[in-house]
Amino acid sequence: MARLWETAGSELDPAIDGFLRSLPVDVRLLPEDLEGSLAHVGMLGANGIVPREVAEALTRELRDMLGSARDGRLPVDPDSEDVHSFIEEELTRRLGDGGKSVHAGRSRNDQVAVALRLFLRSGSKRVMLAIADAVDAILDLASGGIHAVMPGYTHLQRAQPVTFAHHLLAWCAGLERDHGRFRDAAARADECPLGSCALAGSGLPVDREATARSLGFPRPGRNTMDAVGDRDACSEFAAACALLMTHCSRFAEEMTLWSSSEFGFVRVGTRASTGSSVMPQKRNPDPAELIRGKAGRVIGSLVALLTMQKGLPYAYDRDLQEDKAAVFDAHDTALGCLGALAILVRALEPDHARMREAASEGFLDATDLAEFLVAKGLPFRTAYAAAKAAVGHCIGEGIRISSLTAAGFAGIHPAFAGVVRDDGELALYLELDACVGRRAQTGGPAPVRVMEEIARLRAFTADARG
Ligand code: ARG
Repeated sequence: MARLWETAGSELDPAIDGFLRSLPVDVRLLPEDLEGSLAHVGMLGANGIVPREVAEALTRELRDMLGSARDGRLPVDPDSEDVHSFIEEELTRRLGDGGKSVHAGRSRNDQVAVALRLFLRSGSKRVMLAIADAVDAILDLASGGIHAVMPGYTHLQRAQPVTFAHHLLAWCAGLERDHGRFRDAAARADECPLGSCALAGSGLPVDREATARSLGFPRPGRNTMDAVGDRDACSEFAAACALLMTHCSRFAEEMTLWSSSEFGFVRVGTRASTGSSVMPQKRNPDPAELIRGKAGRVIGSLVALLTMQKGLPYAYDRDLQEDKAAVFDAHDTALGCLGALAILVRALEPDHARMREAASEGFLDATDLAEFLVAKGLPFRTAYAAAKAAVGHCIGEGIRISSLTAAGFAGIHPAFAGVVRDDGELALYLELDACVGRRAQTGGPAPVRVMEEIARLRAFTADARG
């Protein structure tokens, strides 16, 4: 088939023709490109660029094509160069000369730019809804673990007691920011490239405000060269996906660790774990591992997009054709991973007793011992030295801090003398639930704060669903 731009006598090598074709990828933009075409054709008619009857016929056929495309019933000629060419070829097949009028005042450069923005607009909404679903799944799990004391880690070493719910809310904090990133990126992407034509606009009386309005954009892009050569909307979307996936990958890593016999904090139910084809005892957290793996792929899409743009002279260059594969893959992978994450989280069977047991070993109350002395008026560094000496002593003796007597404490470090008594005050102070309960600052693990935060996040997910 002759290309739109081909005239008699041109002889493009068939292999080059095949190399340049983007239809297999950009056919996915068929509905968006038809919407953009409808806006364009309406404007052509309203401004007398094509006769009103021609605009009406084009609108009728485009609407018909859009209806079929949305149902997946519009046969697309596999030989077309790209989805944009296909639309003009199909209109020409249906309307003859009428179809040949559609491209007045536009170029595939502004056509592809607007179709991509429409895809990103709905794609961002899909990802944002999936984030809200994942947050709700995490909140359901957290609601059962508000009093489930577990070790909090730094350097993957047991550090201080937190709760399972508090730990899960840390995940939600990242996801909430991810949601905001998609929203912010979508707001910046909300400009219409249409009417920029190839790069310099058109000498015909094209009305960019009108096409922007009819597609629901608040305004046209500010500069016609930027509007066709810019792919910030793609980069920002992919960046938001990459960061989202980085978070999901960290959660996945934790679920993988927690489900190991070494931690034993959770079991992954059969809905989200797999067996081994050879080891009958295995229950593997494969979905978590695959989420972790796919994060690399989405980061790859972001790097591909940035790298393909960095050396491009303004305005459009064919390099930009590669943007769609990266954007679609980032979108599909992020959505797939969020869906799997929500199911995986709901399939977790937490072992609260095992978590508490782990929190009671390893002197997670050592900081609280120092804080007990600070509360009694000692300087922190002195209190720290005393607590460190007590921990060293207990490790040597193989005993717990709570089993030391007042005399024992005083013998370890003078700071304890007269401050720690045998009245049980310190033992109560060092109980795991007391340690957690005192940490009632904003964002802390105290059950009262965690319950407030769960309620706030529920309001966030309800709002995200609109
Ligand atoms: N298939 C092309 C793309 O996706 C459409 C734009 C082609 N423009 C051009 N001047 N060759 O970028």
